[in-house]
Amino acid sequence: MATNRTFTMIKPDAVENGHTGAILAQINAAGFRIVALKKTQMTKNDAETFYEVHKERPFFGELVEFMTRGPIVAAILEKENAVENFRTLIGATNPANAAEGTIRKLYAISMGENAIHGSDSDENAQIEGNFHFSGREQF
Ligand code: RTP
Ligand code: MG
Repeated sequence: MATNRTFTMIKPDAVENGHTGAILAQINAAGFRIVALKKTQMTKNDAETFYEVHKERPFFGELVEFMTRGPIVAAILEKENAVENFRTLIGATNPANAAEGTIRKLYAISMGENAIHGSDSDENAQIEGNFHFSGREQF
C-alpha cells in the first residue's frame, strides 16, 4: 500500500540559479505538507552512497560531481500517494520530455542538471528521508 511521504532535493543548479523559493511555493501549492526541510551540501561520500544504485552507469561520476558542487535543499513531504503525485509534479528526468508546468520543465537545464529529485518508491522515500534527517527533525 502507498504511504503518504516522499523525499526531495532541490539540486545545486536550481539553488544556484535562485529557484528555491519558487519551487517550494509550487510544492506547497500542489498540496504537499513539509515534514522536514534544510539547506545542506552533500560530501562526495554522501552522494556516492545516496546514488549507489547508479554506480555502474556511465554518468555516475558526473552525477556525484554535480550533486556535491554546491548546496541543495532537502525535504520530506507528505500528501496522499506522495511518491507518484510528486513524480508527476516534477516531470520527466529529461526536461525536454517534461510536461508543461512541471518543475523540471520550468527550471531544469538538462538531463544531468535537472533541478530536483523525487523518490521513486515508498521504500526509497523512507531510506532517503532518513539518510538526510534524524527522527528529531521530522514533524
Ligand atoms: P532523480 O532520482 O534525481 O529524481 O531522477 P530520476 O529518478 O528522474 O532519474 P534517475 O534515472 O534516478 O537518474 C538520477 C539522476 O542522474 C542524472 N542522470 N544523468 N546524463 C544522463 O544520461 C543522466 N541520466 C540520469 C539526473 O540528474 C537524474 O536525475
Ligand atoms: Mg531516481
